[in-house]
Amino acid sequence: MRKILVTGGAGYIGSHTVRALLDRGCDVAVADNLSKGYRENVPAGRLHELDINDGAALSELMRQAQFDAVVHFAGYIAVGESMREPGRYFENNVGGSLSLLSAMSEAGIRRIVFSSTAAVYGNPAATPIEEDFPIQPLSPYGESKVIVERMLRWFDEIHGIASVSLRYFNASGADPEGRLGELHDPETHLIPLVLRAAITGEPITIFGNDYDTPDGTCIRDYIHVNDLAQAHILALEYLMAGGATEQFNVGTGAGYSVMDIIRAVEQVTGKKVPYVIGPRRPGDPAALVAASEKLRQTLRWKPEYRDPVTIVEHAWNFARRRGHGR
Ligand code: UFG
Repeated sequence: MRKILVTGGAGYIGSHTVRALLDRGCDVAVADNLSKGYRENVPAGRLHELDINDGAALSELMRQAQFDAVVHFAGYIAVGESMREPGRYFENNVGGSLSLLSAMSEAGIRRIVFSSTAAVYGNPAATPIEEDFPIQPLSPYGESKVIVERMLRWFDEIHGIASVSLRYFNASGADPEGRLGELHDPETHLIPLVLRAAITGEPITIFGNDYDTPDGTCIRDYIHVNDLAQAHILALEYLMAGGATEQFNVGTGAGYSVMDIIRAVEQVTGKKVPYVIGPRRPGDPAALVAASEKLRQTLRWKPEYRDPVTIVEHAWNFARRRGHGR
């Protein structure tokens, strides 16, 4: 049985991945300071409430158990906030990752899967985006992930820590049974906000409808959180089999517009979604769609959920379970 340490395992993508790891028979420990995550997302007895910036606490945890690998989610994720408070992003995302890597090399843990982002590509010249496109982040958030990817290369070369960086596109949906789901505070992500508009009748603002896209609204690659979790399992297996340091996009390769998502929510909920058109949000590229052949071919990854209606259905199940659907 593999022993896996998951940082940020109380958060949205982390908690879904912890479930998937447990389903595979792994022994999982979660390190999370609960600044963004939720205690109830972590199965009983698995949570170690600690900050990954606390190197001594991490080292102690790594002494207690011989981990085979680390899956590293812990980090801040809001692009807009990072434009106002860059220091927090470098401190938490870069500093926390450095503290984790130092503890790992001291403890002799030689494998890590890292949560990176499509934001490393900035405003790409073309879509679909391939992994060797220029790295040109437009925000401190994206930059913080680029810096960690670069650190990972050196920790491999010097300390022999092999890594897989997964560059997520738009994580979405929820565990189909509705036990886990997306819950951010404040919420900035499209699908939970559109669901909220359907429920409350308060209009959502569409950030621009004058983009060079078929309906004028931005196009994104919405990847179901369970398919994202599966990519982590495959990345771990790849590293356990001796795979070398790599970076992969995680997206379906299909793009949907903001209006497509609004229509999907109307179909699933049977409610009209009120919306207003606002100005463009600074830093929003018109279209972000992944080329995912590298992940499909190297790790044999295949997304199970491709239809935005199914993704929205699962997000809706979660919202309803939490009592927001009445
Ligand atoms: N949008 C609106 N109104 C809103 C919220 C969002 O129109 O109230 C639009 C955005 O302009 C964008 C789309 O919905 O076109 C998706 O926006 P999200 O905020 O849900 O997601 P982003 O594409 O901005 O960012 C997400 C993650 C980032 C990651 C990026 C990579 O939050 O961490 O995907 O694709 F870097």
